[in-house]
Amino acid sequence: ANTKTVATIQKQVAEGKKFTVLTAYDASFAHCFSKLGVDVLLVGDSLGNVIQGQDTTLPVTMDDMVYHTAAVTRGNQGALIMADLPFNSYANLDQCQENSGRLMRAGAHMVKLEGGAWLCDSVIALGRAGIPTCVHLGLTPQSVNKFGGFKVQGRDQDAAQQMINDAMALSDAGADILLLECVPSDLARAITEAVHVPVIGIGAGPSTDGQVLVSYDMLGFNQNRLPKFVKNYMAEPNTLENAVTAFIDDVQSGAFPAAEHCFD
Ligand code: KIV
Ligand code: NA
Repeated sequence: ANTKTVATIQKQVAEGKKFTVLTAYDASFAHCFSKLGVDVLLVGDSLGNVIQGQDTTLPVTMDDMVYHTAAVTRGNQGALIMADLPFNSYANLDQCQENSGRLMRAGAHMVKLEGGAWLCDSVIALGRAGIPTCVHLGLTPQSVNKFGGFKVQGRDQDAAQQMINDAMALSDAGADILLLECVPSDLARAITEAVHVPVIGIGAGPSTDGQVLVSYDMLGFNQNRLPKFVKNYMAEPNTLENAVTAFIDDVQSGAFPAAEHCFD
């Protein structure tokens, strides 16, 4: 099977077909998800929470990300592999280039950074170095200490307009994909319409081009209360394969996310 690329994801979106993203941290899950047709495997720094048992993603290191990216790469059967740059690993351009290179050498096809329009220089520099980028906006968990908690972002007019401006600036700078976390559905729709790159959502309503969930959450492996935006796909079909297939079908039909998974 051909490996999915940023270009094939863009084409799929242009054809009006939604795409699916699940987090993967090891070869076995990567093999299963990619074989079932999940388009993008995100080696998320959420591994700090679900693998390491941390309260936040801040303790995750570059060595952790490289280790898990390499494992996912070995199991992958044709998905696009996106790897997170962890907390404080892209604070300046040199560090950003060096660490992105490490993730790419481990097998990632693109990297993800959290932030706003101030990342335009990083996006441009990485693009020149042949490294596609996804920028994560809205609730960016690496900034939890600035936000003062995990809260829906972009609810007031100014913050919403700022997020639209940031998304447009990043798309113009050459970001290949954007990701919106925990934003009102209307704002996510406005951003998806405003930019010319694919947009992935998590807790961002039904209008984004793709949907991502933390795999452990959607499989019901979570010691804590599940966030509102999660659907437990193990609740009914009770095999891993059926759960993942149901997620893909739901995203493609528009059945997920439903109103109960969205913010307004
Ligand atoms: O680390 C992660 O799993 C993520 C998703 C929540 C988008 O960044
Ligand atoms: Na992340």
